[in-house]
Amino acid sequence: MKNNPSSESSYQNLEKALGFEKALPVTKDWSAAADFLTIISDYCRQNKPKTIVECSSGTSSLVLSRCCQLNQHGHVYSLENGQQFVDQTQQQLGDFSLSSFCEVVHAPLQNIQIGDENFQWYELYNFPVSKIDLLVIDGPPGFIQEHSRYPALPLLYDQLADECAVFLDDAARDDEQEIVVRWLTAYPEFRAEYIENERGCFILKRG
Ligand SMILES: C[S@@+](CC[C@H](N)C(=O)[O-])C[C@H]1O[C@@H](n2cnc3c(N)ncnc32)[C@H](O)[C@@H]1O
Repeated sequence: MKNNPSSESSYQNLEKALGFEKALPVTKDWSAAADFLTIISDYCRQNKPKTIVECSSGTSSLVLSRCCQLNQHGHVYSLENGQQFVDQTQQQLGDFSLSSFCEVVHAPLQNIQIGDENFQWYELYNFPVSKIDLLVIDGPPGFIQEHSRYPALPLLYDQLADECAVFLDDAARDDEQEIVVRWLTAYPEFRAEYIENERGCFILKRG
């Protein structure tokens, strides 16, 4: 499941590669790292997914939306629990003229039960998106609970396309490593690849 580290990346390289005319808004410690954004944008540019869902909005929303603009194909649905971050991301999408490529969905964290476990995860009452080709998971924050990002696959499983890819950020953490073991046990049709970059990235693919 291991892979070599990706080549050195930076936000500036990414801005250049995607033809952004101004610097991406980046918040240290909260925005996805440049190498993770480069991995998802490379995948997006090569595979041209139609339906993209991300768990948490921000810089990643701008990058994925710009890929859809360049691809002339695809749409991003970004689940965001915090109203202030919904507003901020929408503002940033507007600043970059990318609003038509991304819907930031306000999805407050709610208590959900999976088996005999309880999690705080995005409410999906208003989320009828189907055939998800690309799922990018960078939230909710890990400190909220153990296996914070585990619900993504069980709760969105029925909405995934037969052929799909799932990218998990911060995968160098023990918590994320355990989440992937649980996913692969529950959904053995996925194959996993680990990228040893700044914060670690797991890529799961099916089909
Ligand atoms: C890791 S961040 C999301 C990063 C996003 N994918 C990006 O690339 O910018 C996960 C969540 O943390 C919250 N968040 C973002 N910035 C924050 C900040 N400065 N302080 C507290 N929470 C923040 C938001 O709710 C966001 O969805």
